[in-house]
Amino acid sequence: MNHDPKTFFIRTYGCQMNELDSEIMVGQLEGRGLKRTFDEDAADLLIYNTCSIRDLAERKVMGKLGQLGRTQKRKRIIGVTGCMAMAKKESLFRKLPHIDFVLGTNNISDLSEVLNDVIITGKQSIRTDNTFEENLDYLVAKKESKVSAYVSIIRGCDKYCTYCVVPYTRGKEVSRPPDDIEKEVRKLAAEGFKEITLLGQNVNSYGKDTPETQCLFHDLLYRLDKIEGIERIRFLTSHPIDITLELMQAIRDLPSVCEFVHFPIQAGSNRILKKMHRIYTKQQYFEKVAMLKELVPHASLGTDIIVGFPTETEEEFIETMDVFRKIPYSVAFLYTYSARKGTPAMRFKDDVPQEVKDDRHSRLFELHKEQAAQERAAMLGQTIEVLFEKKNRNGQLKGRTRCWKKVIIDGPDSFIGTLQQVKLHSFNHETLLGQVAEVAAGV
Ligand code: 5AD
Ligand code: SF4
Repeated sequence: MNHDPKTFFIRTYGCQMNELDSEIMVGQLEGRGLKRTFDEDAADLLIYNTCSIRDLAERKVMGKLGQLGRTQKRKRIIGVTGCMAMAKKESLFRKLPHIDFVLGTNNISDLSEVLNDVIITGKQSIRTDNTFEENLDYLVAKKESKVSAYVSIIRGCDKYCTYCVVPYTRGKEVSRPPDDIEKEVRKLAAEGFKEITLLGQNVNSYGKDTPETQCLFHDLLYRLDKIEGIERIRFLTSHPIDITLELMQAIRDLPSVCEFVHFPIQAGSNRILKKMHRIYTKQQYFEKVAMLKELVPHASLGTDIIVGFPTETEEEFIETMDVFRKIPYSVAFLYTYSARKGTPAMRFKDDVPQEVKDDRHSRLFELHKEQAAQERAAMLGQTIEVLFEKKNRNGQLKGRTRCWKKVIIDGPDSFIGTLQQVKLHSFNHETLLGQVAEVAAGV
């Protein structure tokens, strides 16, 4: 038997989906009477919500968990949740005998039961279902922010890009019923939230697995746009193949839907795209971007890129650089390829030397930095709408434009949760600095 924990600590690694799952676990644990602490040493229950997307992410967690086993002075309950729990399952108990439970990404709703198991039996417990059952109470989530909230609309991924663990760690696509989503968003609006970010590994697949609801992703946007109080709707992440004309029209026509699209190309060479199983060519990708730019000329774009995919040549990497010259992305997440166990790309020889991967990464990073600086410089002097979310460490207010650019100003706390017109005067890396327009005009 284990002692009933009174306090818990939770650490989240990885993507927004994990952040949302952690918020749900916090809500569940607080609902059962536990108190959250941010002091890892003081907590009776420790939860590590993990990520498997790249080797480094896993190594970080394994290092942390290994160290816990060596330094633990008193018995505490330790749980591993998230993608690594799914990828490694029971083998985690062999490597880390001091952990008490393993909870997969599809089993968040079982947290309380697993905890009871561990407390009552004193034995290790594991739940890692391969598919997600639509039984999770999202409404208990304890949101980190009071202004902007993540809302899950679809879990899992059916795309099977050859490098990616997600289809194995999060299972197949399961869309959440539109009525449930609408109910949650109405509740958030009533609580004063101004912005929602619809989350899914591929939000554009929304509704394809549930034809009976007759609600595809763009239909959902039309429903949610009607909800009073929600000023901004964002969505993450998209697969280019599923970005439809209807979605682009929704971005153009719906006042709350922000004009920022994360449009990840991953690589600029058709041979590499094929090897990645991205199911589009560079030409098809450019056509879609051109279509979006025609419909929504001021839309800004984000991307994810993997450099050094197996067999990628210098010429093929240059093609990725050329994509950036044609499409100056406003936001770019750049990664070096990391071979993941269980993925089809594991069969390809990881033959691009690490130094070459790192060199390509830094060349692309420099190009993007230059482009982002040019884009920000061109915005100086403009007055732009910013939603303020919180204060930063220096006591300044932090917010974002509709196109997801970070803006910092000096201003009163009362601006948090409000939209303000900000005149931009300078920038620092990717962050824009400014003043509220009335102040700037001397009113
Ligand atoms: N190696 C490097 N980057 C990866 N990503 C996914 N899998 C891998 C991998 N094995 C990147 C992709 C994806 C982002 C979330 O992480 O660019 O879009
Ligand atoms: Fe991974 Fe591809 Fe699915 Fe994105 S679309 S989660 S990269 S398999």
